[in-house]
Amino acid sequence: MRKNIVAGNWKMNKNLQEGVALATELKEIVSNPNCEVIIGTPFIHLATVSELLKDNVIKVSAENCADKASGAYTGEVSAEMVKSTGAEYCILGHSERRAYYGETYEILKEKVQLALANDLKPIFCIGEVKEEREAGKQNEVVKAQLEGSVFNLSAEDFGKIVLAYEPVWAIGTGLTATPEQAQEIHAYIRGLVAEKYGNEVADNCTILYGGSCNAKNAAGLFANPDIDGGLIGGASLKAEDFKAIIDAF
Ligand code: PGA
Repeated sequence: MRKNIVAGNWKMNKNLQEGVALATELKEIVSNPNCEVIIGTPFIHLATVSELLKDNVIKVSAENCADKASGAYTGEVSAEMVKSTGAEYCILGHSERRAYYGETYEILKEKVQLALANDLKPIFCIGEVKEEREAGKQNEVVKAQLEGSVFNLSAEDFGKIVLAYEPVWAIGTGLTATPEQAQEIHAYIRGLVAEKYGNEVADNCTILYGGSCNAKNAAGLFANPDIDGGLIGGASLKAEDFKAIIDAF
């Protein structure tokens, strides 16, 4: 059966010392969770935090990786480098990367393949913007995002991916998709996976919800059959808030 996951996405928050302090606090308060717990940190934290959480239940994720394997790409961080820090996951295709850093379907396809080739598990984000939701185009949008970057994978590789549905209008806005809205599109996404890879792969695919998920709304969201956890931004920056979301399982 598929895993339930609560994953944090720190984004560009926390300097190294603050990040280590937060990871240390989480290490102390998270024990025996009923789901897998992941923290997504900036690159500079990865090695230290991975070492700190070695053999701990909390896993570590990068928030991005380069679309090239290695070489003269000043300032970039490759999937291989991420893997060498001890991180196990890599968030890819976040709407902020798509919107502010021009990440296209093609670029993301490369990143996903490089992550997998380096034994990192991608947490692949999809989701529509407000205008698309208002025009009723959300299904079309997530379908194109999947077809454009991950439906080229073999069933075996696709099986290593975690999907995160994050409606862009709900990210950092305090607006959350209702549990019904989220369940509806999660079921649609799982249906697309089933069409492409069959029922078994679809049943085993973890699909997270992200977008202003917090301690108050998490339980209502996670109670739905096709919502297998959350990708948490703002509420992952305080240990108590993040723990409360983990406890929703
Ligand atoms: P948020 O961010 O929880 O702050 O809305 C979620 C995300 O962007 O992953």
